[in-house]
Amino acid sequence: MSDHAHEGPTHAIGKQQPQEPTSFSFDAESNAQIETVLARYPEAKKASGTIPLLHIVQKQMGRTTGSAWVPRVAMDAIAHRLGIAPIRVYEVATFYLMFNTKPIGRYHLQVCGTTPCMLRGSDDVLRACQVAGKLKSYGDTSEDGMFTLTEVECLGACVNAPILQVDDDYYEDLDYDRTVQLIEALRRGERPPIGSTIGRQTSAPEGGPQVLLEIETVSPAQRTVPAVPKGAPPVVE
Ligand code: FES
Repeated sequence: MSDHAHEGPTHAIGKQQPQEPTSFSFDAESNAQIETVLARYPEAKKASGTIPLLHIVQKQMGRTTGSAWVPRVAMDAIAHRLGIAPIRVYEVATFYLMFNTKPIGRYHLQVCGTTPCMLRGSDDVLRACQVAGKLKSYGDTSEDGMFTLTEVECLGACVNAPILQVDDDYYEDLDYDRTVQLIEALRRGERPPIGSTIGRQTSAPEGGPQVLLEIETVSPAQRTVPAVPKGAPPVVE
């Protein structure tokens, strides 16, 4: 856990939000996805679809309103669809940080502040988000509605730290300048390629192989089956 207050847009389901819609219905795309999800569970275990349906709702809100969040009326619609009490959906939605129970900006900037990312420059990533995204602190949404800033714990990609998650995508090996460039591209409506921003191949070492350098690389076409020495015991497969 870093020193920063761990705030995000996701925690409370207290009073109704001013922007809270008064009704919600699943659109055709969501309904098709729900059919697929619910087919995985026996009728008596439909409650297991709670998390997938929350994801589906959040995506629908992002698609249709530009703000990927889960209003309370949508949680009620999920409860109705699954035949469970609404509180069962509320308690899941408020437990997991990936569900936004308040409206957010068009792009959700999630800065990893855990130790490996902190040691590799997450403070610079945060500063770049604040400057380029016009954001004051964690939990803030920019006045133009473009960005919301959240601190998250380890995203499981420490090997390419520091990491910024934008919505569902990871941007890796960031520094101040590359983070600013990324945010400016998002503002222009572009979506830069995800993954390492320094061209690293997945999680390979920077600068290419660093160990086992004495081993000659042989292409599959060059490989030959080694000759069996005379008198060697037969190979048992
Ligand atoms: S510490 Fe940031 S991805 Fe693990």
